[in-house]
Amino acid sequence: MRILTIIGARPQFIKASVVSRAIKQTGGIEEIMLHTGQHFDANMSDIFFNQLGIPKPDIQLDIHGGSHGEMTGRMLAEIEQALLEHKPDRVLVYGDTNSTLAGALAAAKLHIPVAHVEAGLRSFNMRMPEEVNRILTDQISDLLFCPTTTAVKNLETEGFGHKPVKVMQVGDVMQDAALLFAEKAVAPAGGDFPEKFILATLHRAENTDNPERLANIVRALNQVHQDEAPVVLPLHPRTRKLISHQGLKLNVKLIEPVGYFEMVWLLDHCQLVLTDSGGVQKEAFFFGKPCVTMRDQTEWVELVDAGANELVGADQQKIVEAAARNVGRSVEDADQLYGGGEASQRIVDELVMAGR
Ligand code: UD1
Ligand code: UDP
Repeated sequence: MRILTIIGARPQFIKASVVSRAIKQTGGIEEIMLHTGQHFDANMSDIFFNQLGIPKPDIQLDIHGGSHGEMTGRMLAEIEQALLEHKPDRVLVYGDTNSTLAGALAAAKLHIPVAHVEAGLRSFNMRMPEEVNRILTDQISDLLFCPTTTAVKNLETEGFGHKPVKVMQVGDVMQDAALLFAEKAVAPAGGDFPEKFILATLHRAENTDNPERLANIVRALNQVHQDEAPVVLPLHPRTRKLISHQGLKLNVKLIEPVGYFEMVWLLDHCQLVLTDSGGVQKEAFFFGKPCVTMRDQTEWVELVDAGANELVGADQQKIVEAAARNVGRSVEDADQLYGGGEASQRIVDELVMAGR
């Protein structure tokens, strides 16, 4: 069976690394890797291929920037050509980026079945580009690999139980990655990190593209850095651009985006995670750290229910207070919320079965 995997953004490299590894170990599947080029800086792309042993993409597109419609449209056209040339039996997509939607749509229009890893997640906020991408991708997939119980329930609510598709709770491939690569943790080069620090990440469009939200978050991070503990922030290129565009000043310890091994080190050594990332919310939990999430909704509601994650939006005061409340606290993964590291193998077993 030939599977064509479509990736393009940083979290997809990390997710695909563990599934790709399980594909190789299991045998019986030829995987062709297509990189859309959505993320392209060395520290947003190449570094993950090198560190995580992901094979060099068989097809490398160079599509990035522009509006959402333009980026997705250009990807759709070029992915279609690649599918026509390589004739896969199935397409595999991850998460909720523009690369995800373009890949799934190109395949569906050619009647190639689509498997979606991270199916069923919902924020119920249609203004988020990710929500649009994931809802549409789920609609045109026939193997829906859900990471959580909530994700399965979301699909049931949307009527997937009556469709000729397979919805499965397999666990979260990001937990597989965290478990597999934890021992590779390495301090970021040129570091000199304080004994106690807070790890922050910030890049989601709903924060960075809204001047008021962005200014509030910048003020909150500056205050937390001043009052609680040094804030270490590997700065996403999107955020770098928008902060400079708005003339804001982040007075925290800014570093360039880091590789996964460095990120794992930061997660392991920090006192608290402050983020708007999807993946980093869970990774805080995997490394026993409390998380304060600077968003109005989360797809990972079980972390909030478990008391591991506090949702505070982009309100300066709420961010500062939640940081003070949570810093240094430890968090336990008592309930195996994310499958315990078996997700990739479950996914590959299902892919093999579907190909018979
Ligand atoms: C994308 C995803 C988001 C995901 C994030 C992971 C969509 C709609 N959004 O957001 O869901 O959380 O990836 O990090 O697909 N840039 C660089 N160098 C790079 C990558 C990006 O300079 O290597 C710049 C781009 O030129 C652009 C900006 O950063 O100006 C945003 O990149 P883009 O891929 O559009 O969206 P992300 O914010 O990265
Ligand atoms: N990450 C990384 N280096 C960084 C920031 C994040 O390796 O400088 C990893 C992080 O550990 C997680 C993934 O990138 O595995 C999350 O990606 P991101 O926050 O960009 O996207 P999201 O999960 O919000 O879609």
